[in-house]
Amino acid sequence: MAQKKAQSGKKQPDKKKAEPAKKAQTAKKAEPAPKAEPTKKAEPAPKAEPAPKVEPVPQAEPETKPAAPVYDTPRRSVAFIGSECHPFVKTGGLGDVMYALPRALAAQNCDVRVILPRYACIPQKYQDKMVYRGEFYMDLGRTGRNYYVGIMEYIWDGVVYDFIDNQEFFTAGNPYVGLVEDIPKYCFFSKAALAALNYMNWIPDVIHCHDWQAALAPVYLRTLFRDSPVGRAKTVLTIHNLRFQGIYNIPTIRYWTGLPDEVFNMGALQQDYVNANMLKGGLAYADRITTVSNTYAGEIQTPEYGEKLEDHLRYHNYKLRGIVTGLDYEMWNPATDPALAVHYDITNVLQHKPENKRALQQELGLVQDEGKFVIGLISRLTNQKGLDLVNAVLPQVMDGNTQVVVLGTGDKQYEDTFRWYENEHKGMFAACIQYDEARAHRIYAGADALLVPSRFEPCGLTQLNAMHYGTLPIVRETGGLKDTVEPYNVFTGGGNGFTFDRYDAGLLLDAINRAKTEYFTSRYHWDEVVQRDMAKDVSWANSARQYKDLYLELTPW
Ligand code: ADP
Ligand code: GLC
Repeated sequence: MAQKKAQSGKKQPDKKKAEPAKKAQTAKKAEPAPKAEPTKKAEPAPKAEPAPKVEPVPQAEPETKPAAPVYDTPRRSVAFIGSECHPFVKTGGLGDVMYALPRALAAQNCDVRVILPRYACIPQKYQDKMVYRGEFYMDLGRTGRNYYVGIMEYIWDGVVYDFIDNQEFFTAGNPYVGLVEDIPKYCFFSKAALAALNYMNWIPDVIHCHDWQAALAPVYLRTLFRDSPVGRAKTVLTIHNLRFQGIYNIPTIRYWTGLPDEVFNMGALQQDYVNANMLKGGLAYADRITTVSNTYAGEIQTPEYGEKLEDHLRYHNYKLRGIVTGLDYEMWNPATDPALAVHYDITNVLQHKPENKRALQQELGLVQDEGKFVIGLISRLTNQKGLDLVNAVLPQVMDGNTQVVVLGTGDKQYEDTFRWYENEHKGMFAACIQYDEARAHRIYAGADALLVPSRFEPCGLTQLNAMHYGTLPIVRETGGLKDTVEPYNVFTGGGNGFTFDRYDAGLLLDAINRAKTEYFTSRYHWDEVVQRDMAKDVSWANSARQYKDLYLELTPW
């Protein structure tokens, strides 16, 4: 082990006056973030690669209250480190989890602090609520520079949000820009998050990191920060999506992290002779690994789903477990949801859902007819989500009695495909190529069924939202979809939705047709499933408890 000195993060700013950056647009006491100063001779940054596609930045949601506290287990303090969090910034389910799990943990006698980048794209109304908490300078890798780290704080419903401020790294209009920018950004962010904990002298029992953007935290913690106060924390790393790993050539990662040579080996950060893999390193150094469903925890240890990390995960599987994600019942509640045309609950869903359907049809310019079978699809439009299957079956799905509503953005190829269908099936197909939280809520409420035919799905939240809104999911049996949707059994009438197993367009079509048959010919049974799905417990309570148990296992004092 290299004996590199720990970075406490308490370093004073350099004597040389730093150049002021753009004015910080914050409320109280916010200082302008100065640009970093060179302190020693910088090595040249290694060459970078072109950027992949950007995800959209959504709108904020109304404020809600967390559940009442449960004090039957000992108190633990937890720092969440991740790259997005509703309502500040969200591109997918990670943002939902970073919002809901801390609140659910606060209700499980946890003291939670969420550390996030202070992206410039965070809506101004939240920027205005942030309070300046402090600042320091931190060296970074072999850059030879000391970087400004500001801490802006927002306390909301028992959870403390600390935003790491640095205008050099976090000025883009989107959280993810492309690997060229993102690799240095998250090398900085993970280190700054740990240094901020030291700076604030808030040393948590557990540091809970999420996805590749925060995966270096356990590596830093056991190397550069080992002898600093935060070094005593235990670490959990949650995989929300194994497809994204933060892979870049070794010189670049070495340059931006300054991690010791010992971590660049095949058991930790090294991917092959050329590349380093940030997630792989984190998995090696974390005390526990979780992923967001049991089935996915098993799948990622196989070549089909392992994204080339299956051997590494099998090696570490003694510390891996799956904990399925829940829904925040305050944010997702058809009885109070401000986005809906008509509120409803399990007692009057059969009466009010058709009204929401009609309102949705009107909003989207579809033929207004409660008798039509409306299928929703709310998704990032990427290869993960099974959209090639959808494309293959749509001509047969559009039978005159079925309407399809797509809400999503992503790969141009899929966006254009859905636009084409909208044009081809006017009044029956709506392609909403946009990110719109409120509209998503209205589709969950107004559709009869929701399609989630994913190629892989670590957990999946849209099927949970759908069930909770009395909309039957049609899903592929993979990952969390398999764990949360019990197949409808036509003989017993049991189950929650319609499922298919192999990744095959014919099987998807068959599942859709089974759903249609049930809807058009056996409405009584369909309605029973609607009510059963609404009654199903998909809340966070049980899952948060499992996370709490995991923390207690790691900190058995
Ligand atoms: P992933 O994280 O892989 O994108 P999830 O099912 O876990 O998939 O989470 C997706 C979340 O993002 C859900 O809350 C869903 O409602 C929301 N969402 C996805 N696309 C859109 C969109 N275009 N507009 C609004 N919400 C969306
Ligand atoms: C990822 C996965 C999704 C999961 C979400 C939250 O984005 O793709 O399946 O629900 O993370 O954990």
